[in-house]
Amino acid sequence: MEYDVLFEPFTVGDVELKNRIAMAPMNMVYSDPEGFNSEQWLAWYAARARGGFGLIITDCVVVNPHPWRGSDHLNPHLFIDERYGRGLGLMADNIHDFGAKVFIQLSPGFGRQGHASHLAPNEPSAAPSAIPYRVDMRNFNDGWEKTQRRLDPRVNAALDALGGLAAIRKMDEKQYDDFDALISDLLKREDPGMYRSMKGDVPREMTHSEITEMEDRMAFATREALRYGYDGVEIHSPHGYLIHQFLSKRSNQRVDEYGGTLENRARFLVNIIRKTRQLIGPDRVLGARFSGDEMMPNGVTNREMQDIVGMAAAEGLSYISVSQGCYENPGAFTPDGEGDMLKYGPGFKEASGGLPVFVPNMMTAKASAEAIASGQTDVVMLGRQAIADPYWPAKVQAGREKDIVRCARCNTCLVNLFEHKWLACEVNPTVGFERYLPELWRINAPSMQKRVKKFMSKMEGL
Ligand SMILES: Cc1cc2nc3c(=O)[nH]c(=O)nc-3n(C[C@H](O)[C@H](O)[C@H](O)COP(=O)(O)O)c2cc1C
Repeated sequence: MEYDVLFEPFTVGDVELKNRIAMAPMNMVYSDPEGFNSEQWLAWYAARARGGFGLIITDCVVVNPHPWRGSDHLNPHLFIDERYGRGLGLMADNIHDFGAKVFIQLSPGFGRQGHASHLAPNEPSAAPSAIPYRVDMRNFNDGWEKTQRRLDPRVNAALDALGGLAAIRKMDEKQYDDFDALISDLLKREDPGMYRSMKGDVPREMTHSEITEMEDRMAFATREALRYGYDGVEIHSPHGYLIHQFLSKRSNQRVDEYGGTLENRARFLVNIIRKTRQLIGPDRVLGARFSGDEMMPNGVTNREMQDIVGMAAAEGLSYISVSQGCYENPGAFTPDGEGDMLKYGPGFKEASGGLPVFVPNMMTAKASAEAIASGQTDVVMLGRQAIADPYWPAKVQAGREKDIVRCARCNTCLVNLFEHKWLACEVNPTVGFERYLPELWRINAPSMQKRVKKFMSKMEGL
């Protein structure tokens, strides 16, 4: 078969994947209001596992129990105590029933990219330093422009009057500040959810004991997630979130041992890995995700990130997952085309001493197979393409590539997330409603059917 390389088994740490196609971590926010899992969450991943993905990496699940975790405005899944375990465990079992492996992505919080919790509305999110962020529309790509235009007819009209994204990109600081004030005012009134995603509050600086508590919690949650049945854990350290904020001079201006030199800025991450390995031993899968480049002035460069990857790998990582950018550069975070992040794969592999690398932003079987064959990545990850078509791997394997529903790169998914809406897709109407499609549901999983049949035949014998 033309794309055989995609369907070769691949070993990561102590886990064998049946193929080299992974679903990238994506927060679809199908959790309930308390961050517990839901039937929709189970069905969402069941569909992708049934569609042939060898590995599912879950959306980022927050382990920080405090109102300053900064994630509540997006309402992601939580794993803050044992009450969350049974739902998370059921999810892992459900994915296994369809023959896929599953790694859970764990996060200590959103830091300056977060907001105060409804539990303590006057308590800001806590970050390495009290430095807010602002999304700069000059960093938008075509996908982002499309979604901004759809937000409100007046935004669309304002963009037309200005000459579109191309004109915004040419603005100097003063022109952009004026434009930003105008758009912010409009969004604040008409689309407060989106406004909060575009503008950070001033965060509070984390105390030393809060930092060490989070290191301990990440280690403990990892051990517990493995106990509940996950095949591995991925540390959520890209995209300008809390761990990344420590890594970057742009967001970390601390004067204690967690700020200053690169070693100091990497200390939070390195301590998390070290403490985790002490709890789980050397063999279980522990990966981490990094933005190949923050792509912002004074942000982490690719050169620095390679050094960080080296330090992290030395503490015992099993693989490196690649990404790019941060909230302030959303175009980089979700590129328009495909293959934009392959450039980081070989550098991260070398910096990590040869660990497996996983790269997202793939859409076609041809480019995916070439990326693996040329050594740019070991595993391809599909993000938005896996939203558009849960059966991408099965269709490629069956030679039915023409039937693949292609992602439109319209970013409706992400903007729904940031506007706090039920997450949907422009090209796949089943997204968000998988729970109503019984053929995707748990009872139809092959191993579940076997278990039920066995039980029924025992009953017949009574
Ligand atoms: C709706 C949505 C939610 C996302 N949530 C996460 C997340 O929870 N953790 C993470 O590391 N990346 C997250 N990402 C980034 C994706 O994993 C991926 O890197 C990005 O979409 C680019 O890959 P793609 O071009 O294949 O979509 C998210 C992306 C989207 C579109």
